[in-house]
Amino acid sequence: MTDLCVTGLRRAGPADLDIIAALESACFGTADGAFTRHQLRALLNNPNAFWLLSLDGRAVGCWLKVSNGRARWARLYSLAVHPDLRGQGWGKRLMEAGFAWMQEEQITVCRAEVKVKNLTARRLYADYGFRETGHLPGYYAPGVDGIRLMYNTV
Ligand SMILES: CC(C)(COP(=O)(O)OP(=O)(O)OC[C@H]1O[C@@H](n2cnc3c(N)ncnc32)[C@H](O)[C@@H]1OP(=O)(O)O)[C@@H](O)C(=O)NCCC(=O)NCCS
Repeated sequence: MTDLCVTGLRRAGPADLDIIAALESACFGTADGAFTRHQLRALLNNPNAFWLLSLDGRAVGCWLKVSNGRARWARLYSLAVHPDLRGQGWGKRLMEAGFAWMQEEQITVCRAEVKVKNLTARRLYADYGFRETGHLPGYYAPGVDGIRLMYNTV
């Protein structure tokens, strides 16, 4: 994989729990699908999870390798940039590093969900080739709908 440091990112692990928990709570509320500390700890210890963190700890992304025995795909689990850093290309850098990881893992399909009202993220995902494939009523909370997203290289 390309040297992540060049892009201002590094792979994160269990020791980054506090930094990531702080960043997630600065970026998401419970109705946004924020991870609990317990969920974060489990995900940081999951060998199938690919966590990326900016060197200053203010941009984070998490992808998960999923398999049902026959097919393998990735789930984009979390993507968050601290409010002070938005609009400076961090979201794109995280996406690009995630796609490089998928390529290295020979994964051609990626699934994700996003809130209907999150137009910024929907535009970012669309720019990277994600298609909106389904409406998820009440997915995040009662009255907070989601959209299912699918990326496929073939
Ligand atoms: C979505 C998010 C990760 C984007 O991060 P970012 O670092 O601001 O994004 P970038 O600067 O790389 O911009 C990437 C694209 O996002 C979109 N975007 C960024 N800021 C935007 C804004 N203010 N309005 C509309 N679109 C915007 C654009 O498509 C932009 O591409 P462009 O510059 O070619 O127009 C960030 O806004 C965030 O953390 N939001 C809160 C958490 C969240 O919603 N995560 C995603 C859902 S899980």
